[in-house]
Amino acid sequence: MTLASELRQAGSLDELYRLLTPLNTGPGWNKPMPSLWDQPRKTFVPYCWRYDQAKAALDAAGRLINTDLAERRNLILFNPVPGNDYATTRTLLAAYQMILPGERARSHRHTPNALRLVLDAEDGAYTIVDGVKLYMRAGDVLLTPNWSWHGHGNESPAAAYWIDFLDTPLIHALEPMFFESHPKQYEPVSEIASHSPMRFTWEDTMQRLDQLPTGTQIPLGGSAMATIALSMMLLQPGVETQTHRTTANNIYAVAQGGGVTVIDGESFSWTRGDVIAVPAWRPHSHCANEESIMFRVTDEPVLEKLSLLRRKIGN
Ligand SMILES: [Fe+2]
Repeated sequence: MTLASELRQAGSLDELYRLLTPLNTGPGWNKPMPSLWDQPRKTFVPYCWRYDQAKAALDAAGRLINTDLAERRNLILFNPVPGNDYATTRTLLAAYQMILPGERARSHRHTPNALRLVLDAEDGAYTIVDGVKLYMRAGDVLLTPNWSWHGHGNESPAAAYWIDFLDTPLIHALEPMFFESHPKQYEPVSEIASHSPMRFTWEDTMQRLDQLPTGTQIPLGGSAMATIALSMMLLQPGVETQTHRTTANNIYAVAQGGGVTVIDGESFSWTRGDVIAVPAWRPHSHCANEESIMFRVTDEPVLEKLSLLRRKIGN
């Protein structure tokens, strides 16, 4: 009897299922998991990572591994849900990185968009983006968009620390990953720039935020990256921002100050350098206990382009 005849003559649903399995075919009416649900699931969880702990771990790593062995000396902030050892939220990754005095991190390029918020750096820490050397200081944000060459170095006497943000989890899901090491290992510098569309300095951010009401966000970079939007948000002490949720994923990093963020009923206190993951569709609000500046990294442009961006005010 042919398989088709066997299928046609199946005497029970169980027999039909048994015959279907080796054909990699399943009954849509009998799935263990539904494929549609009424609102976004809470797959990823809210979480806060501490800069003081990350810094201590990076200092240890500085003793134990050098930039010859590690392409980047960084600490991945993975969301604590079963089966995940990489993504910070569904589409975004955050990682602390440190580079010692005199070190250079090799140049490479990749399709994931990347950027960094500098936490501590003395004069002489730099990133080279497509041959342009950009010095970086605490509070600066530097972009290395999709397929731009980038490497780092530190000519200062102190270790430099920053937080990297990438859309690698999104690229993993969509598959268009390409990576290339620079043929010369360390990309030659063609120019040292004092101004660049790839760098947003702390001074500019402070000037732009001056006198603005609490919760105001200023965008950094417009559409420099297709998948990630960035903003800096001013929080005045004691003024709570409006609770809201969005289908976009948000990662907040504390550029200055201290306070508390309530996410889906859970409180996370934070201080400078901490990283807070607010996965999609989690109501949240911030309240600073001193004048604070939060850096927001979001996949909003992706949701927007796909007509999937929704917001809701309140809990
Ligand atoms: Fe990179």
